[in-house]
Amino acid sequence: MSGGERRRREPLVVSREYVFLQDEGGGEAERSPELRLRIPEVLDSEYGMYVWPCAPVLAQYIWFHRASMTGKRVLEVGAGVSLPGIVAAKCGANVILSDSAVLPQCLENCFRSCAQNNLIEVPVIGLTWGEISPDLLALPPIDIILGSDVFYEPKDFEDVLVTVRFIMERNPSAEFWTTYQVRSANWSIESLLHKWHLRCLNIPLNTFNADGECLAGSKLPGRHSIQMMVITLKRSLTN
Ligand SMILES: C[S@@+](CC[C@H](N)C(=O)[O-])C[C@H]1O[C@@H](n2cnc3c(N)ncnc32)[C@H](O)[C@@H]1O
Repeated sequence: MSGGERRRREPLVVSREYVFLQDEGGGEAERSPELRLRIPEVLDSEYGMYVWPCAPVLAQYIWFHRASMTGKRVLEVGAGVSLPGIVAAKCGANVILSDSAVLPQCLENCFRSCAQNNLIEVPVIGLTWGEISPDLLALPPIDIILGSDVFYEPKDFEDVLVTVRFIMERNPSAEFWTTYQVRSANWSIESLLHKWHLRCLNIPLNTFNADGECLAGSKLPGRHSIQMMVITLKRSLTN
């Protein structure tokens, strides 16, 4: 390959700033300054290359609960450019970022976001939903799994939940914090949650200041149909 061809294949990366304000959540005792991040996005039509509208909503949920993030062991799945995982790391959590093991360009996005925000110590691993891989088996204990817009393709819904369920079997108190964009009234994860013995709590956006037009200083998500859910293991037949 000539130098010219190699140069043409370099992705065009642009950075967008996200600002999380001090007076949003965090509890009275927590007076953390505002948080400013830059997330590099690749101008490419392949998904995972930019911040999807679900991501600022999940990041806002993390920021709202930042007082309890310190020391939490967090895994982001399908992280792409990783806005939620980066916010969690900045709030003091021990974060691992992951994306599909067979999409190296998406893992590259995770590395790029870490580098841009001085988080080069954050591990990035390949985790393909539904696969019991050596990297999945080698995960340390996890308190919170993050997933922004991972219920994107109905064919993957069950694989996402299989991975989540596998992690929860080893970490029964773990919670899956996930944002979901309603794209079709016919798509639902309800029967899959039942099948995998998982419980889902819908979190209204206004309870964590995510119901505005402008979030984290960005126009995303604007008018949207995004939902925030916390999924946990069902502990009994009744809950
Ligand atoms: C809709 S994008 C969301 C990206 C990012 N979480 C966000 O909200 O900005 C879906 C992400 O899931 C990843 N993904 C797709 N299929 C996957 C699979 N089978 N296993 C793991 N990750 C996958 C993609 O690479 C992409 O990063």
